[in-house]
Amino acid sequence: MAKKKFLTDVRTLRKRARQHIEQGAVTQGYRAKRATVLKLLNDALATEIVCVLRYKRHHFMASGIHAQSVAAEFLQHANEEQAHADEISQRIVQLGGAPNLSPEGMLSRSHSEYVEGENLIDMIKEDLVAERVAIDSYREMIDYIGGDDSTTRRMLEGILAMEEEHAEDLVTLLAELG
Ligand SMILES: [Fe+2]
Ligand SMILES: [Fe+2]
Repeated sequence: MAKKKFLTDVRTLRKRARQHIEQGAVTQGYRAKRATVLKLLNDALATEIVCVLRYKRHHFMASGIHAQSVAAEFLQHANEEQAHADEISQRIVQLGGAPNLSPEGMLSRSHSEYVEGENLIDMIKEDLVAERVAIDSYREMIDYIGGDDSTTRRMLEGILAMEEEHAEDLVTLLAELG
């Protein structure tokens, strides 16, 4: 039976695995541009942190007749954005980088903005805009990575799906309140 030629032979695989073992999960077969992926992930990390802070602000400042349920939704989103930030940080380390959690320049690294909002409707609208920014930026990152780093791509796809849920939650709230 003919061997599948597109697979590296086992001796070469074993030999390569012994080289640069200090790089851990990053092997010679890693096809993506690591520096670029790390930069993208650090920008995404900044975006998530800015989103956590904005949702927290909105959670504590929500007031008015519908405040309670909306404030609870803001808090849930804040916690989910924090979980995204943690996932991204973990992947950055796995790829041999370091998560940039410095407050300095956080807002300029972030894709989304930090807008406080005057009232409940404003807050929901600002959060919806931020989610839509995140959705498009995650989609672009996923397209860029393609098949070159499937672990990072899968993580980003999971986050994207949740940002889409967030946007849907917010547009539903707006329809209910508006
Ligand atoms: Fe997120
Ligand atoms: Fe989100």
